[in-house]
Amino acid sequence: MTLDYREPRLDDGARIHRMVLEAGTLDVNSAYLYFLLSDHFRETCVVAESDSVPHELLGGFLTAYRLPRAPDTLFIWQVAVHPDWRGRGVASGLLDALTRRTWFDDISRIELTISPDNTASQALFRRWAARLERPLTVSPYLSSELLNSGQDTGHQPEDLYSIDLR
Ligand SMILES: CC(C)(COP(=O)(O)OP(=O)(O)OC[C@H]1O[C@@H](n2cnc3c(N)ncnc32)[C@H](O)[C@@H]1OP(=O)(O)O)[C@@H](O)C(=O)NCCC(=O)NCCS
Repeated sequence: MTLDYREPRLDDGARIHRMVLEAGTLDVNSAYLYFLLSDHFRETCVVAESDSVPHELLGGFLTAYRLPRAPDTLFIWQVAVHPDWRGRGVASGLLDALTRRTWFDDISRIELTISPDNTASQALFRRWAARLERPLTVSPYLSSELLNSGQDTGHQPEDLYSIDLR
């Protein structure tokens, strides 16, 4: 299986939205949001695709942005790999694709949040920090009380994971 890791284009928004819906474990935002991410934030997002799978499917995607108040911090928002392709290094490939982009040299910190029950995501980012040979710290961020205080219910808390690149 050969995958191409590239920046998304505007029309990838629909395929990313579909993957989020089918992943089952991710917060589902509107299709409109994924179109905007694929356009306005394409430099910091990645899609993985292959000629050997139907056009309407992606192998995986990753969305991220630089914090407006601290542009040397890259916040990774959502990452998912098609269920058939998990456990083959695709998510690691999405992360590595970020590190090859020229702006990545300006990044001094990576941040993301993970719920305590998402062991796959925890393993992915602990492994990435180890491969980068940089320290990873974990601290409380969004409590379940706060996350469930609005219209949403049933959220697990989200811990903040930080990888210090300097
Ligand atoms: C989390 C996710 C993106 C991982 O994708 P993946 O392509 O299978 O990950 P990789 O194959 O690159 O694995 C990276 C590392 O994580 C580990 N890992 C991956 N899935 C794991 C699991 N379910 N349990 C334990 N470790 C796991 C791998 O063993 C690997 O470590 P290694 O190099 O030491 O072997 C995928 O499981 C997924 O799409 N989950 C649903 C969406 C989600 O929860 N996203 C995260 C929150 S935004």
